[in-house]
Amino acid sequence: MGRDVIVACDFSRKEEVMRFLEQFREKKPFVKIGMELFYAEGPDIVRTIKSMGHKIFLDLKLHDIPNTVKKSMAVLSHLQVDMCNVHAAGTKAMMQAAMEGLKTAEKERPLLIAVTQLTSTSEAMMQQELLIGHPINETVMHYAKNTMESGLDGVVCSPLEAGIVHEVCGAGFLTITPGVRFADGDVGDQQRVTTPARAKEFGSDYIVVGRPITQAKDPVAAYLRCVEEFVG
Ligand code: C5P
Repeated sequence: MGRDVIVACDFSRKEEVMRFLEQFREKKPFVKIGMELFYAEGPDIVRTIKSMGHKIFLDLKLHDIPNTVKKSMAVLSHLQVDMCNVHAAGTKAMMQAAMEGLKTAEKERPLLIAVTQLTSTSEAMMQQELLIGHPINETVMHYAKNTMESGLDGVVCSPLEAGIVHEVCGAGFLTITPGVRFADGDVGDQQRVTTPARAKEFGSDYIVVGRPITQAKDPVAAYLRCVEEFVG
């Protein structure tokens, strides 16, 4: 899979997501289904959206003991999504177990990526609450290396970190980057944002874009603008 725009479908009801996706009549976007929609509607929502011709990133961020994660990934492997994820904080043993579980279904496995430190965690929180005494950038890079050494395909990170992740983990190691806004758009609650065009320059492999598309007056036009800027 090459560079692409992933649309974060942050809705809690099937009707809302259907109303949104039905607008895309020609090019069917790669979509992200998160916990909110998955917990509300169950695995059927994945099957339904897949049957409409969309690629799917199932963003459930698993984090548990290796055995539980392996068995859960084995169940998810039958949904045949295109990308799914875990928390790198679960350790290398957990990430390796996740990968083993994901290989259960006979078909081609989804890409497996890891969250390093959530962007909602500040350096002060990480150091004072979690007692991780390193600078946050070092922790993020260390978790990225652990992810690579566990045999996963990439990490979620800021577009601003994509270049350094590629330097440390290799050009083929994927960077999936939220925090993208149009130059003339609202930043909302995101802190460190960049445009689709800049994300491309930084070397992001996939940008994850939610509100700039879902809340746009014309979501299809906003999506196509993202694709034009990011994929070219
Ligand atoms: O609406 P917006 O473009 O900010 O949506 C970004 C999406 O990426 C949301 O689904 C959000 O949960 C997700 N995300 C993020 N930062 C992370 C990990 C995921 O914004 N570090």
